[in-house]
Amino acid sequence: MPTANTTNNGPWDAKLQQFHGGQDWAHIDNFVEDFSVTTNAFGMPDSAMAAAIQSISQGHHYPPADQEPARSSLARFLWPTEFESEQDRLILGNGASELIDLVIRMAPSGTWKPGPFRTQYKEYERSARNNDFELLSVDSTDKANVACLVNPCNPTGDYLELPELKRWISANVLPGGYVLIDESMQPWHSAEFREHSLTSQHDYIRKMYEEHKISIFVIHSWTKLWCCTGLRLGSVVCPTADHMRAIKKVQVPWSVNVVALAFLNAVVSDETYLQKTWQMTPAWRQQTINQLQEMFPGWVFYGREFLSWIWVDTGSEDTAQKAVDLAHAAGVPVRSGRPGYNLPSFVRLAVREPAKFNVLLDAWKSL
Ligand SMILES: Cc1ncc(COP(=O)(O)O)c(C=O)c1O
Repeated sequence: MPTANTTNNGPWDAKLQQFHGGQDWAHIDNFVEDFSVTTNAFGMPDSAMAAAIQSISQGHHYPPADQEPARSSLARFLWPTEFESEQDRLILGNGASELIDLVIRMAPSGTWKPGPFRTQYKEYERSARNNDFELLSVDSTDKANVACLVNPCNPTGDYLELPELKRWISANVLPGGYVLIDESMQPWHSAEFREHSLTSQHDYIRKMYEEHKISIFVIHSWTKLWCCTGLRLGSVVCPTADHMRAIKKVQVPWSVNVVALAFLNAVVSDETYLQKTWQMTPAWRQQTINQLQEMFPGWVFYGREFLSWIWVDTGSEDTAQKAVDLAHAAGVPVRSGRPGYNLPSFVRLAVREPAKFNVLLDAWKSL
């Protein structure tokens, strides 16, 4: 059985697959908490978990081919007042990963470029590489046929507000091109997240398509906000209903199973869960930074205040590796910046409740 450890790629096949966090927990005897993923500190919401468990009794039936009623429920969550006119642009997937790959397969061939940050979530690049795109570097001034920006950016924590985001799109995408904006972590922004999201910009997106034939897709992984990575749940808001139908045509049928659909259908109504997420995540995040800053004055902490993780530069490859090893040994794995991101002095840790973070802090006392 493959065991995950801190010096190799664990269960990932490094030659074939992209490294991600979140694999160590199953192989740690003294496991306490997973700090290596960017999921919500509050874990799976109870009400949605109950709905998911109940749905197992329907496991002998096929899931609905139209993903309903979960798809419409998510549309209502995204656009409380305009869902009727916008919902035909939305489709669900088996995690955002399925949709990232589907949209890039359908994109116009040619060049691909990432967002303007030091690094970003790597599945976009992996898919572009697999589909024979020519990869432009982050600082290339050329416009690309396909551009993918993760906003807020995992792992760096950078975030572009809408005016900057629109400027980046105009400056980096060729007419006829595809733009994938990943807003998986954007709902953490605040109770007003919708107004700051590209999903609210109907006229802009329509105009970009009508006037420049630039197709803008907004991708969400719902496995982070609602802490259900094992269930697999993502969506894409397409520029037009025709784009949505083009995805539907090539998507494998029933890619979202009954358990994930039941979970989604319930979770969108859990306002209490989101209220506590918006209230506590920034508070715990700041507390975590304060404590780490005191212990390690040389460390630099990156990322917007509302995010569910902290991107930390320890300033030294050796220190970062020791921090990763100590965390692993104490049952609180963190994400090393080395595999995938190739930034070996960095570690990424999730925001978690103080009792869990204290275990990590204790583990790092000997650093
Ligand atoms: C920014 C971002 N997008 C997409 C994904 C993929 O998520 P999913 O689990 O829904 O496939 C992740 C997972 O870490 C992510 O961080």
